[in-house]
Amino acid sequence: MPNIYFDHASTTPLHPDVLAVMVDIYQGPPGNPSSTHSFGRTAKRHLTQARDRIARIVGCHPSELMFTSGGTESDNTALRGTLDALRHAGKRHIITSSAEHHAVLHMANRLEEEGYEVTLLEPDEDGIISPGKVRGALREDTAIISLMYVNNEVGTIQPIEEIGAAAKEAGVLFHVDGVQALGSIHLNLSELPVDLMSFTAHKINGPQGIGALYIGKSVPFQPQILGGSQESKRRAGTENAAAAAGFAKAVELANEHFEQKGRHMSLLRETFIQGLEAELGSSAIAINGHKERTLPHIINISLLGADTETLLMNLDMEGIAASSGSACTSGSLERSHVLKAMSLPPERLNSAVRFSFGLGNTLEEIEYAVKKIATILNRIRIKV
Ligand SMILES: Cc1ncc(COP(=O)(O)O)c(C=O)c1O
Repeated sequence: MPNIYFDHASTTPLHPDVLAVMVDIYQGPPGNPSSTHSFGRTAKRHLTQARDRIARIVGCHPSELMFTSGGTESDNTALRGTLDALRHAGKRHIITSSAEHHAVLHMANRLEEEGYEVTLLEPDEDGIISPGKVRGALREDTAIISLMYVNNEVGTIQPIEEIGAAAKEAGVLFHVDGVQALGSIHLNLSELPVDLMSFTAHKINGPQGIGALYIGKSVPFQPQILGGSQESKRRAGTENAAAAAGFAKAVELANEHFEQKGRHMSLLRETFIQGLEAELGSSAIAINGHKERTLPHIINISLLGADTETLLMNLDMEGIAASSGSACTSGSLERSHVLKAMSLPPERLNSAVRFSFGLGNTLEEIEYAVKKIATILNRIRIKV
């Protein structure tokens, strides 16, 4: 049986060049980047170079990047760190959306319990948050807007520049969860109207357990992890220099293969959709998310008349790994909060599967999957 991995929006295979960089450092001498002896200085050099290399590609100053443990920590810290810093400014209002990752939503819930007011904007049926809605939600006491660049469940790309312009005009901070954008959208943070952006390495063939938070130079920020003076006193704890070097390598590889990857992903997407339409008929499927403003490698598709869990189980039995949405919601029978927020009708909500492509996926795998999906559907679908 084949082993086909179509869940790259959840996590990605480690690129062999990334692994090589990390193994090299792990096999080398020990070193704490904070130690002043030569061992420490070598570790520090790995860390500094990693920060410089990532900063060059995302277009910011290295000092504006703080390494974290990943996207969740970056999202949590972006909100907490800025709100704590603005505590005495009387700013108690947060704007976000109901289609965010739980790393933002659950933190927003917590903040609400602590007395902050949260406006949850609803996306339209394509998953877009309109800049007009954001403008309409702004208040005198709004501290921060937090929205994702690319939705991890449907691939929809948000109008970040327009929303950022509205935030700037209002003097409100703008945090963007850029976890799914990194490596798939060219970023130039020095020009984007964004104050904070979250990243993680494991979505771009880097290691799990490391990410970064971009914190613009003049952005008020209060450290959340206290201890030593690491990360310019913004996040205490011995840094993982090998993982940082692996992260930098992954960012560079994504940058180098940007166009080529985009073309390959678009080809896989087109072949997949056309294949399903040919096998099942176009009225039997519905693509969830925006048709144009989307990343090609994420396809959320409703296979009408089937049930998500049954589909995923049957796909798994055929050696195809896909997902019902974000990793934290799958495994439970909960329907995707993103698709619910997009107000999709129940027949689309209950039959949605996310396929996400990446490194190593081939046209042959797509063709195999299309055939298997058709066979599975014939077997399980309630005739509609
Ligand atoms: C948009 C988005 N934000 C945040 C996260 C969390 O990132 P991490 O798994 O690195 O904590 C994810 C991962 O699923 C994501 O897709």
